[in-house]
Amino acid sequence: MLVGEGPGASEDEQGIPFVGRAGKFLDDMLAMIGLDRTKVYIANIVKCRPPENRDPLNVEQDACIGYLHRQIALVQPKIFVCLGRIAAMRFIDAKFRITKDHGHWYDVNGMRTIALYHPSALLRDPRKRPETFDDLKELQREIQRICEHTDLVLPGRS
Ligand code: URA
Repeated sequence: MLVGEGPGASEDEQGIPFVGRAGKFLDDMLAMIGLDRTKVYIANIVKCRPPENRDPLNVEQDACIGYLHRQIALVQPKIFVCLGRIAAMRFIDAKFRITKDHGHWYDVNGMRTIALYHPSALLRDPRKRPETFDDLKELQREIQRICEHTDLVLPGRS
């Protein structure tokens, strides 16, 4: 399961997370490790677009977080990916520093949890992409580890 902060204009119009420019980039990131949208669940912390695309306020996050917790309870993800600083601060640590702490594993309520740079940040600053490629490879290794220890089928294999 991957979680972003909140919808942009395209997502707000369509009611689907990550369908705009950042979403297309996220699709490319997933493809690099053999994943696509049929194999992951994508959600946002807030469910409506914050004005001017600003960061969602804590009070707005609080208003929506129950819905996201319900989504998590239904999906029961083994791996939880925070896309960007806001999701990482909400789920991993309020003091999370994305520049320093991305790509490390954390335990969040029994879920193996990792934070990646937000796809929008990677569009804005391509210099962050090599580090994210390493993080994606780490994510892929963890998926493989989990599949080997359970009866889950590896992405891309039948
Ligand atoms: N950014 C997010 O955090 N979520 C989206 O759905 C789109 C852009």
